[in-house]
Amino acid sequence: MAIPFVEDWDLVQTLGEGAYGEVQLAVNRKTEEAVAVKIVDMTRAADCPENIKKEICINKMLNHSNIVKFYGHRREGNIQYLFLEYCRGGELFDRIEPDVGMPEQDAHSFFQQLVAGVEYLHSLGITHRDIKPENLLLDDRDRLKLSDFGLATVFRHNGKERLLNKMCGTLPYVAPELIKTRGFHAEPVDVWSCGIVLTAMLAGELPWDQPSESCQEYCDWRESKHYLNPWKKIDSAPLALLCKLLKENPGSRITIPDLKKDLWFTKAIKKGVKRSRKSSGGASESSGGLFKHIRSDMDLSQVSHSDERTAYSSTQPEPRTAIPLWDSNPAHIDKLVQGKGISFSQPACPDNMLVNSQLLGTPGSSQNPWQRLVKRMTRFFTRVDAENSYRSLKETCEKLGYVCRKSCANQVTLSTTDRRNNKLIFKVNLVEMDERILLDFRLSKGDGLEFKRHFLKIKKKLDDIVANQKVSLATT
Ligand code: ADE
Repeated sequence: MAIPFVEDWDLVQTLGEGAYGEVQLAVNRKTEEAVAVKIVDMTRAADCPENIKKEICINKMLNHSNIVKFYGHRREGNIQYLFLEYCRGGELFDRIEPDVGMPEQDAHSFFQQLVAGVEYLHSLGITHRDIKPENLLLDDRDRLKLSDFGLATVFRHNGKERLLNKMCGTLPYVAPELIKTRGFHAEPVDVWSCGIVLTAMLAGELPWDQPSESCQEYCDWRESKHYLNPWKKIDSAPLALLCKLLKENPGSRITIPDLKKDLWFTKAIKKGVKRSRKSSGGASESSGGLFKHIRSDMDLSQVSHSDERTAYSSTQPEPRTAIPLWDSNPAHIDKLVQGKGISFSQPACPDNMLVNSQLLGTPGSSQNPWQRLVKRMTRFFTRVDAENSYRSLKETCEKLGYVCRKSCANQVTLSTTDRRNNKLIFKVNLVEMDERILLDFRLSKGDGLEFKRHFLKIKKKLDDIVANQKVSLATT
């Protein structure tokens, strides 16, 4: 069920949620333009109105191909709507296989794009302050887009830099000086978190809970114990770069201009070269074809795009023209921003239905519902009906020790603690599509990589009800 939003626009799916509120996908009924709408309830916290004002102000300053475009905003009572470029490829963390990572050439391309985005931000005197795979989105051509400027701030104005002292960000990604020091420079903190993202991409795990002396893994890194995980999974050239990115002393840490001269950063990585792996890493998949596996096994939306994706993959030159306008610059955004024909009522739990099949069936629609699924690997179809899907999910998760709660019709909330003893909460939506049930898992609170590990564990236990993907695809 799509929810009418403003004239011609429907909210069709939740893309993400956080402390601020949620991000919904809005689709134009006539033109099929797609826009992400960040919905912020300003009554949630006392500092919310001020923070959202700052986020809007910073967004307005930005215009770069590696940063999510901002189309405009609109206030309706206590709710702020931010209209943003919709990134069809989902989050970067969906491309990271837990404990494995991704092929080095993919990590290389994503890292170069990340650095381009951060360099641009810094050139404007802005720091993101929460760089992590969950805030790195991908468009339909695997172009990386830095998103969520909710914690961003200005550190340089009229050429004058100010030191920061506010502790913010996400602990495994924050730089050590942020924990230890009162005044610190902004740029090296973002550079550090880029190093943690690179580690996650190359090894599929985060190196530590936080970079402090109380954390053994961090002490091991400082003592250059590269024979330990995650470092032993990483090839020597990117590891040499990581040594420069993850330097404890921010004054000795590599700067972006120097980073751009690094051997691994600048090298052309040939497509088809297998990622060098020094250890098995204990993951379930073999090396090399991993990325392909994720795409073919789980990413249903890739099916009809496969030719296009091969042609425009990240390691090949990008075409200059073939970018659909309706993705990057929706023509009908004005109605959305101005709220023409407004209908802001939202049901209590609007995120269950992925895409309105009636909408998709309209003449001229070139895509079917499968292709329109947002790219996420944390979902699968079952071979049984809704009732049995729900029962199996509940029984399995309870056996595995999760606290299961039916949050609303068609949605189950699962809570647990991860292996680092941090809270992990995710939601499972049961969606009926083409007479089959899709179990769609979405992280609500906690670490994205841990979420993925838990998803894979549950999926394995539910093996007897998971539909065979190849059969599923053949029938679409
Ligand atoms: N999740 C959060 N923001 C998003 C966006 N702009 N596009 C796609 N998914 C998102």
